[in-house]
Amino acid sequence: MQRDNERVYQLVERRAREIMLPVKVATRERGYRYYHGLRTVRIAENLIARSEELDRAEVDLFLVRCGGLLHDIAKGLMDGEHGEEGARLVREGFSDLLGAHDLDRVADIVRYHNKRDPTRDYPVEVKVIQDADLIDHLGAMEVWLAFHWSAARDEPVAESLRWFEGDRARSWWDYCLSHCNFELSRLAMERRLERFWRFLADLRRENDGELW
Ligand SMILES: [Fe+2]
Ligand SMILES: [Fe+2]
Repeated sequence: MQRDNERVYQLVERRAREIMLPVKVATRERGYRYYHGLRTVRIAENLIARSEELDRAEVDLFLVRCGGLLHDIAKGLMDGEHGEEGARLVREGFSDLLGAHDLDRVADIVRYHNKRDPTRDYPVEVKVIQDADLIDHLGAMEVWLAFHWSAARDEPVAESLRWFEGDRARSWWDYCLSHCNFELSRLAMERRLERFWRFLADLRRENDGELW
């Protein structure tokens, strides 16, 4: 049976908003994972539209949109591994909106979005969301995330610079670049990283008292 993609997605989106928008964790704005989910969907749509490695006819955009929106649904809501818990929440909370086949595939996107392994042959919808999720942590968005993090922890500029200029930030960026599934994702990450590093260099100069 043909599903009414747009209508069902609107219902999924409304329920996601009800569940995710009230969630507040200390280092993020209220509802962060809902907004991050929406951005992840938009990034995924752009990857699908523009990547030459992706065959648009092979990708189920409806599953990508549902999975992208819901991928972090368990984060901040419960303890435990958030991919596994999120898949469970999707099965429990969306079975009246999604048919059994779609429910399985959306739950799998949620389960595997954070289990990146270039040697595993995940469904293309999982791979797209794995990449889109990482991309949404980089670039000008990383400035936003860093400000929220620092504000919540009362952290001065120098402390934040120390973290971003240290080994842990470097290995986080290395992880992103070495775990993306598509060349276009890698390009997006590289462009966003360059933008962030330019900002970081400016912040360093201004914190050191340079005039410009
Ligand atoms: Fe996640
Ligand atoms: Fe995420």
